[in-house]
Amino acid sequence: MSFPVRNTICQIPGYTPGEQPQESGWVKLNTNENPYPPSPRVVEAIQQAASSRLNIYPDALATPFRLAAAELFDLDPDWILPANGSDENLTVIVRTVCDSGHLIAYPYPSYVLYEALAQIQDCRLERLLLNESFAWSPEDAADLRKRSRLFFVPNPNSPTGNVWRADLLAQLLPDDGLLVLDEAYADFMDSPHRGKLLQDDRFDRRLVITRTLSKSYSLAGIRFGFSIAHPDLTSQMQKAKDSYNCDAVSIAAATAAIQDQDWMLSNRAKILATRGRLATALTDLGFAVYDSQANFIWTQHVSGRHHSIYLGLKQRRVLVRYMTFPRAGLNDGSMDGLRITIGTDQEIDQLLTALQECLTDL
Ligand SMILES: Cc1ncc(COP(=O)(O)O)c(C=O)c1O
Repeated sequence: MSFPVRNTICQIPGYTPGEQPQESGWVKLNTNENPYPPSPRVVEAIQQAASSRLNIYPDALATPFRLAAAELFDLDPDWILPANGSDENLTVIVRTVCDSGHLIAYPYPSYVLYEALAQIQDCRLERLLLNESFAWSPEDAADLRKRSRLFFVPNPNSPTGNVWRADLLAQLLPDDGLLVLDEAYADFMDSPHRGKLLQDDRFDRRLVITRTLSKSYSLAGIRFGFSIAHPDLTSQMQKAKDSYNCDAVSIAAATAAIQDQDWMLSNRAKILATRGRLATALTDLGFAVYDSQANFIWTQHVSGRHHSIYLGLKQRRVLVRYMTFPRAGLNDGSMDGLRITIGTDQEIDQLLTALQECLTDL
């Protein structure tokens, strides 16, 4: 049957999220969730919120969370805009800043959701191709910044986990537009920071930072993220979000999570230790492992048989992310590999046992 649907929507493939098997028994290392539970204070806050007045609408600006995040980042609360996951912040930014036909740019390979957001808004899209060292050509960057309205950059990047320095990021600030630093994984960086580039003159305050509670705070199931930007921009973005975009239970959970920094930092420390151990073990098995400052590792095996390895692992109920980037890189080659989320030590042991079996079967 044919329904009245915008041509744009009919023509786009849409974003495909990672597999989410709902039954137990999987070692799930495919969507960069945190393997540890959220702070016990989060569970208490959820219980309390669930037994309070759920019959009335929540605070439209998630004020308790805004205040807690503002304190953490040492900013006024009007710099913070909470959302139903940082993906929603990205949507709100596009809706606020781009008319149809505006150009959206992003480094490639990175987070391909940006493509879907640009397509839904009828924007043009250009990729800034990365080379084998995940660097871009300054000439390409200079050309794109002249023409783009929005530049999205994940830092740390996904799937690779590399971090770009501030002077390089400044090369991407559009002459007449905004730079969005998607800092979903920033708490896992070697030197985590609290939005320091917002005060850096090179960015001319035309910068939006997005953060999520899904990764370092173990709250992917709750859906909560926030953006940090100048209040004059944040107040415009408020008009483009759903009225009550965060529900009462998730506001309570996210506020308790961000107020328990010790819990988050102790899980971060465990994840970084496991990441080091996994990197060494993968190298011993013939994988090239890229230096990661995130809660995942991008790796390529000497055999090049990444899809077979992914399938072999899946057969053994270990889920990692197989990724292929056609036309990746400045040399126009294609690239594929495996992105592996850092799980608990026990999960990583299970992965390594399964990997050894898969490699023998190749
Ligand atoms: C680079 C990047 N940005 C944003 C997100 C989404 O975060 P959220 O769960 O807050 O929507 C992800 C999720 O995997 C991601 O990899």
